[in-house]
Amino acid sequence: MSFDYKVADLSLAEAGRHQLRLAEHEMPGLMALREEYAASQPLKGAKIAGSLHMTVQTAVLIETLTALGAEVRWASCNIFSTQDEAAAAVAVGPDGTPDDPQGVPVFAWKGETLPEYWWCTDQILTWPNGDGPNMILDDGGDATMLVHNGVEWEKAGQVPATTEEDSEEFAVFKDLVRGTIAENPQKWTKVAAGIQGVTEETTTGVHRLYQLAETGDLLFPAINVNDSVTKSKFDNKYGCRHSLIDGLNRATDTLIGGKVAVVCGYGDVGKGCAESLRGQGARVVVTEVDPICALQAAMEGYQVATLEDVVETADIFITTTGCKDVIRAEHMEQMKDKAIVGNIGHFDNEIDMAGLAKLPGVVKTEIKPQVHEWVLPSGRSIIVLSEGRLLNLGNATGHPSFVMSNSFSNQTIAQIELFTKSGEYDNRVYTLPKVLDEKVARLHLDALGVRLTELTKGQAEYLGVDVAGPYKPEHYRY
Ligand code: NAI
Repeated sequence: MSFDYKVADLSLAEAGRHQLRLAEHEMPGLMALREEYAASQPLKGAKIAGSLHMTVQTAVLIETLTALGAEVRWASCNIFSTQDEAAAAVAVGPDGTPDDPQGVPVFAWKGETLPEYWWCTDQILTWPNGDGPNMILDDGGDATMLVHNGVEWEKAGQVPATTEEDSEEFAVFKDLVRGTIAENPQKWTKVAAGIQGVTEETTTGVHRLYQLAETGDLLFPAINVNDSVTKSKFDNKYGCRHSLIDGLNRATDTLIGGKVAVVCGYGDVGKGCAESLRGQGARVVVTEVDPICALQAAMEGYQVATLEDVVETADIFITTTGCKDVIRAEHMEQMKDKAIVGNIGHFDNEIDMAGLAKLPGVVKTEIKPQVHEWVLPSGRSIIVLSEGRLLNLGNATGHPSFVMSNSFSNQTIAQIELFTKSGEYDNRVYTLPKVLDEKVARLHLDALGVRLTELTKGQAEYLGVDVAGPYKPEHYRY
């Protein structure tokens, strides 16, 4: 064994490799970037710690980063989201065999425990010979949080004691950090000092980064990949439009048509989810706290109500808010028999799973992995998907390749930008310039047979833009 890794089963590598090959065909943006940068190797010297769902699409991203010269270590950012065959294919690599793996150190398998999850995250930040990464590629901010909390607690001289208020996840996280600091008291300070920047994939992780930047606590520059238009307006919306019902169908195989489906939150993810459920013939009800998004939902023809209005009559409940405690135990108690409850937002705190488990006499039965029936005190039962974690990755395989090619082209460009120009960025959160956003879109047009109209010079002057773009001002909302 030439390097350290931990995956479920290396013998799945061949099956994974076939899927990667097909995915490459559907990821024209990433393949174009491989071609564009093959000779110049802009990521040579980059040591990237990646924490992002270890799927087939992510495998193509990882091999794009290595094709551009980077060294990479990878973990998943969710305990259920790894596709074991993709993890195996990446660890084995295109030229290795299961007996002689030659790929990338991957630490990910489907169905990790929480201690295993944080161990994997620690592994990507712990490089051979006491070294650390110089770049982070994050999804949801867990790798970034580990470094930041590690530094804070090293400075404080201790990890705060675990309290009853702590979620199980946070308690496990504190244990991990306690262990790492006991072993190496300056570990996180050293790791942080080596990091040139982080590129963050999703709304929730970006939210955490802006909070750190606001208080002056951000330790390195960050690029917010989520708010590239070709990310959030595509992956969050059209990706979820595809993968929400994929998850629902694989988990339950319940006919969606004719049912009442509640979508909590009508942001980018909620818009895609509502559209897909309506596409299946469901009657969709939206809940929102933001009057603008509520009005948008109403204009699209969705009923907008409070959860309390519909909790007793709806059949399917999906949270998409990135907020916490959206569906609580008192709601679940009132639901119809066999109502389906799932979350597609980043963290598992949108549905109060701890509160559900505490209901008197509640009984949980596994129907199959990531699908559980909970019998409630009323005698009715509900079906909860992926234990409240994002169901599109827990019950299905996440977004399809083509949409992830857009997201991951932004990730690759952001990594190049921060790695090659780190001196030009402060410890703040940046988005990619619009010209690069437009470039990502351009890379995906040919595959769809899109024929773009070109502005004449006169038209461009009239609009006050360049013939080659960018075509919109920064404040344009798409
Ligand atoms: P967003 O900010 O565009 O939308 C969230 C919406 O929820 C907002 O309109 C907000 O007003 C609303 N909201 C907040 N609290 C609420 C509450 N208590 N009740 C009802 N509505 C509420 O965010 P976006 O981009 O749609 O992302 C949502 C979540 O999904 C984030 O956690 C993000 O990280 C995650 N995500 C998951 C993906 C997946 O594949 N599962 C893909 C992309 C994002």
